[in-house]
Amino acid sequence: MSKKGWDNFWKDQRQSFYAVMKMATGYFVTQLEKKYRLQPNDTIFDYGCGPGFVADSLAGKNNRIAGADINEFFIQQCRHNHPEALFFLITTTVATNKKILEEQLQHRKFDYILVLSIVQYLPHEKELEEIMGLLGRYLEPQGKLIIADVLDENTSSLKDAFSLFIHCLKKGRLGAFLGFISYLLFSDYRMISKQNKLLHVSEQAIRDMAKRQALTCEKVPGLTLQKSRSNYVLGHGSVKSPV
Ligand SMILES: C[S@@+](CC[C@H](N)C(=O)[O-])C[C@H]1O[C@@H](n2cnc3c(N)ncnc32)[C@H](O)[C@@H]1O
Repeated sequence: MSKKGWDNFWKDQRQSFYAVMKMATGYFVTQLEKKYRLQPNDTIFDYGCGPGFVADSLAGKNNRIAGADINEFFIQQCRHNHPEALFFLITTTVATNKKILEEQLQHRKFDYILVLSIVQYLPHEKELEEIMGLLGRYLEPQGKLIIADVLDENTSSLKDAFSLFIHCLKKGRLGAFLGFISYLLFSDYRMISKQNKLLHVSEQAIRDMAKRQALTCEKVPGLTLQKSRSNYVLGHGSVKSPV
């Protein structure tokens, strides 16, 4: 098999580990709603939206959602499920995405911009900083750029699998957990992860990037299901603390 990167892996994906991804994204949205008291008219831009699980979780709550992803199949699914929202295709090149966002979003600003479970699939830290710089322009003055589910030196696959297992057990979804584990072990995900290590980014590196991009940065625990990963809330000014 030729060397395939995470970008090509994701561009080709269809419904690989939907059940667990949907559960994890649903958990994140619940925590976001609780911690930040999301309001019905809050605007949200989901960068790397996947099949649209954030939009699915917020359906009927009157949030105005936009989303972008590198996978055309996912974008079609988002458009089909949420015809009222704006979903569009982006690339893995941040400079190209700058132009795409300018065309698609024009002068829109958002209360929340989400980068959820994306960082580990980027090739280098440099891309993350470019994404921060790009997305910062689309934030409302009090808006929050949430970079969540970041792997770092404290991340442990075993601890993450355990927290996922406990959640699936509580939700009566052991089948989803087993499906996920067998997917990780027996699909091309395993092969690709041997060839391309998932990107780990330390807290200090995130703070340094935010500073260079003139963004404030706060580490917020508990936003995601996988407890050994980190979450950061970036903003232009004093970021409202979670409740
Ligand atoms: C694990 S999924 C997470 C999807 C969604 N954020 C969620 O949490 O439900 C990872 C997503 O990142 C997208 N992705 C991968 N590389 C990307 C990149 N360089 N820029 C933007 N999105 C990317 C994939 O297409 C995929 O939809």
